[in-house]
Amino acid sequence: MSEATNHFSTRTLMKMKQAGEKIVCVTAYSAIMARIAEEAGCHLLLVGDSAGNTVLGYRNTIPVTLEESLMLTAAVRRGAEHAMVIGDMPFGSYQASIDDAVLNAARYLKESGADGVKLEGGRAMCPVIKRLVTAGIPVFAHIGLLPQSVLKDGGYRVHGRADAEAQALLDDALAVEEAGAFAVTLECIPMELSRKITESLHIPTIGIGAGPFCDGQIQVITDILGLGGDFVPRHAKQFGKLGCAMKAALADYHAAVTDGTFPGEEHSTK
Ligand code: KIV
Repeated sequence: MSEATNHFSTRTLMKMKQAGEKIVCVTAYSAIMARIAEEAGCHLLLVGDSAGNTVLGYRNTIPVTLEESLMLTAAVRRGAEHAMVIGDMPFGSYQASIDDAVLNAARYLKESGADGVKLEGGRAMCPVIKRLVTAGIPVFAHIGLLPQSVLKDGGYRVHGRADAEAQALLDDALAVEEAGAFAVTLECIPMELSRKITESLHIPTIGIGAGPFCDGQIQVITDILGLGGDFVPRHAKQFGKLGCAMKAALADYHAAVTDGTFPGEEHSTK
């Protein structure tokens, strides 16, 4: 944590890697979620474009708009005092041109109070990463499975099993570090590959479905809290069953309203 601001920063994360301290990251999409995650000790809150599935009801992350993402990021910022808040640039907001990417990424810092942005892609995205970093915008890179490329790739799969693909991912990781990214997400890659990448980089690696050797982990909050329905991705573990708890509480509320036991006198205005 930076002493001057009491706020997690790119430097804090780098120091954590150097000290061998695990970096705990989770997605968040609202001020309440952000406050709870921060109180639980999470260091970095990613306003993931997974909001497309978890909050907005889309089938994948592709339809998420910049305005939707900025609004959710601002809410998370209002709920988090110390955690690092990163906005996840949605599909189409950074691929068309480097100038677009700079203008859109700057909006996360200026309008939403984010501490940086995340974007998907390795070597192909390095010119964008370089310009953003030169402009003063911290960039969290993301390689391996890229959810914004799901239509091109024809679905979700583990990346980096074949030797050539593993080498390409190592090259991507080294390239995004060289371009100035402050950390890199490794999504759905074999754990021995993520160990090699983690040992080869100075910046922290943050894994999801990439095994235990990364410098930190990130998970989609609804997956680990049991809020995502029956489907639990293989890389996630349910640390709670909040969906069941919410349903039971709402069923109790429903029963109390229908049988007239709620509201009682103590909940009524005299
Ligand atoms: O959108 C998201 O939540 C992500 C994480 C899964 C890394 O990109």
